[in-house]
Amino acid sequence: MDGNRAKKKGVKKARHELMVKFPTAGIVSNQPITCMDGHSPDGLLLLFLKHHCLRCESSFWYSGGFDEHNEVMHDEEIVCSTCKQVVDHSAVHTLKNKYIFLILVFLLGIPPSLSVPTKPRIFNCQRPKSRRASASSESRPRLATAPPLRLFGSVATMCGIFAYLNYNVGRERRYILEVLLNGLRRLEYRGYDSSGIAIDSDMSSVMQSKSKPYDTAPPVVFRQEGKIESLVTSVYSEVDKLDLDLEKPFLVHAGIAHTRWATHGVPAPRNSHPQSSGEFDEFLVVHNGIITNYEVLKQTLVRHGFTFESDTDTEVIPKLAKFVFDKASDGEGGVTFSQVVMEVMRQLEGAYALIFKSPHYPNELIACKRGSTLLLGVNELGGETSRHLFHDVKALTANDKPKELFFSSDLCAIVEHTKNYAAVEDDEIVHIKDGSVSILKFDYEKEKPASVQRALSVLEMEVEQIKKGDFDHFMKKEIHEQPDSLTTSMRGRLKDGVVGLGGLKDHMRTIRRSRRIIFIGCGTSYHAALAARPIMEELTDIPVTMEIASDMLDRKALIFKEDTAVFVSQSGETADTLLALEYALQHGALCVGVTNTVGSTLARKTHCGVHINAGCEIGVASTKAYTCQIVVMVMMALAIGSDKMSTLAKREAIIAGLTKLPEKVHDVLKLDGEMKALAQSLIDEQSLLMFGRGNNYATALEGALKVKEVALMHSEGMLAGEMKHGPLALVDEYLPIIVIATRDDSFSKQQSVIQQLHARKGRLIVMCSEGDASLVCPDGRSRVIEVPRIVDCLQSIINIIPMQLLAYHLTVLRGYNVDQPRNLAKSVTTQ
Ligand code: G6P
Repeated sequence: MDGNRAKKKGVKKARHELMVKFPTAGIVSNQPITCMDGHSPDGLLLLFLKHHCLRCESSFWYSGGFDEHNEVMHDEEIVCSTCKQVVDHSAVHTLKNKYIFLILVFLLGIPPSLSVPTKPRIFNCQRPKSRRASASSESRPRLATAPPLRLFGSVATMCGIFAYLNYNVGRERRYILEVLLNGLRRLEYRGYDSSGIAIDSDMSSVMQSKSKPYDTAPPVVFRQEGKIESLVTSVYSEVDKLDLDLEKPFLVHAGIAHTRWATHGVPAPRNSHPQSSGEFDEFLVVHNGIITNYEVLKQTLVRHGFTFESDTDTEVIPKLAKFVFDKASDGEGGVTFSQVVMEVMRQLEGAYALIFKSPHYPNELIACKRGSTLLLGVNELGGETSRHLFHDVKALTANDKPKELFFSSDLCAIVEHTKNYAAVEDDEIVHIKDGSVSILKFDYEKEKPASVQRALSVLEMEVEQIKKGDFDHFMKKEIHEQPDSLTTSMRGRLKDGVVGLGGLKDHMRTIRRSRRIIFIGCGTSYHAALAARPIMEELTDIPVTMEIASDMLDRKALIFKEDTAVFVSQSGETADTLLALEYALQHGALCVGVTNTVGSTLARKTHCGVHINAGCEIGVASTKAYTCQIVVMVMMALAIGSDKMSTLAKREAIIAGLTKLPEKVHDVLKLDGEMKALAQSLIDEQSLLMFGRGNNYATALEGALKVKEVALMHSEGMLAGEMKHGPLALVDEYLPIIVIATRDDSFSKQQSVIQQLHARKGRLIVMCSEGDASLVCPDGRSRVIEVPRIVDCLQSIINIIPMQLLAYHLTVLRGYNVDQPRNLAKSVTTQ
């Protein structure tokens, strides 16, 4: 071996070792580097590393080098490019993955924001040795085996994605359109400001005059602002204009669809999905999520001649796909659809679920995800036996039978087609081609993805759950479903006076030994936890603190290894809650999930937890999930406190109450007419106050939230104990005030609140236990709502139901959309 070759080999080896040791760095140059102490190490490599400034939360690049001992050298001071402060070396984070940077550099050139020094650089090689050690040891004491959350600082946006591929079964274009549009209708709760779909055109129609870069029929893309029904109207009128034959059958066809809740860019057709690679729609993408590095990618793509039409972060994805495809096609041999998508994934930072469609790969679909939920539904046509075949993934990938395949953000868009489904995991690429499904696991460190074997699960959900049935609105249906949902929530968990929660049993000792329990959630879920707090403290003797997830993050609240953090979320996908979970995991707390969504991120990332089993909740305003959450947390309190003799009598009373609960809820629902009449009397009000305390402080907050979010009326829930410290000033004979004064330890205090309000001529509506009307309202001047009585910690479940009914009727009477309130979405998956 000559000297030159040996040197080259040596450099290659050094480079390899460095990349193994510092996998997050991007090597961009072999610039000569000198150490500040004057020595010039060999085998030098100039690097760019990405740091995250903890002060201003921005990321920036800085350059550094490695000495001959493979230690990092950097300037003595690293200064944040945004806030200009010197950053703490021990707290820097480097680039998530070397490939993102390397591929960008090798394929696209060095980003303009990085100036590669032309002169030799001098660096300090006295690198603090503790950095890596301190960063890792501080973060994961208890959680050595827990996988890190891949949220990268923000999580998926709302939005719903859906795809339908029929294989070896003839489907007319009209049918395909309807499946796609119906899928969007089911997902509309996730976002309803714009939507779009893409299907295939005919070879003979659209764009045939132009010289397109593929031989197949070009896709047609429909995008529309507003609700799904506006898309439906525009699709059918466009179909006419384009002269597309709705009766044309397709033996195989791949269509994609999207419903949007705007984050990047106003609701408008150009910002709706599918987003396109540009002319001829060579790559089309629907996306649920946020691409955090889209600006860098966009700048680079613009330099390579791409023109952007939307304000979305998503548009970089199809354009990147085209860029990768074109580059690969320039070289020898073709590139498969999954190779293109894999290269795209390497570049993307953020959280996403994506579905790709491309005329270069006709009748194929690819979906992949990181962070956001994505499900695959499989409907094999032709007999019962087929279902069993699908439990073997080899059969799934090999068989040629007629079938329908679906991708969706939520099972409720799949359940009417099939009950066979698989949840796509993070970093998986699902490729549908020639009727077979292959699942690949993407790995930054590996060139080739591993193939994944996945059996299908059978969905335990009935189609009725996603339909309104005899009800006018989902919210009303879900309010009236509560006797059943509560029964389902408790099913199998209450046996012979003992509560069994399988999801917690392995961690019960740790929970009992916790220094405190922290309840964390947002919106209604936070209120549910607040309602369960008193009984949790009473039965467990463990202090319980409350955290609104966003506030916990804003304050960087103290959280310790000895804490049990209980995360409550109907969807299991709320961004703030998931980020708070990530934070608690990093601080070593035991993390417990309480969620309605099997397979949700919350369910997957917590150490243990309980599903509330409330059934599919479609109305944006949470109702049945709220009451089921309380029941589950009451059962948790019973289970955690089950070793205490001192509370035995109370526990027995609660268990007796739980068995009677569905029946009592059934009774309180009879107040529907009365609440409608009350709503009628409040229809023109500007404002409504609700006072509660103790077990019913949460009821006041949640009742007010319901009125606010759907009836669009200002409404505030207040702690009755705070009334005299301010709110009393608002009281007059016009402002309606609801006071919750059902029987519990706070009853006499609430009686005195009522007296004080009466003394100021307050316009009161009092909620009390059955038979107490004369006690709470001796002069008969106030309106009274009498509700069935139950053990104190379950009373909040009974009491919220008239408030839910009130909010519902107020909304309908005021003429607003009950199920899709203005500006809101069911699952708020953005910060
Ligand atoms: C949104 C919804 C609320 C819900 C809150 C928390 O704001 O509109 O109804 O309570 O998110 O959602 P989660 O899924 O975490 O319970």
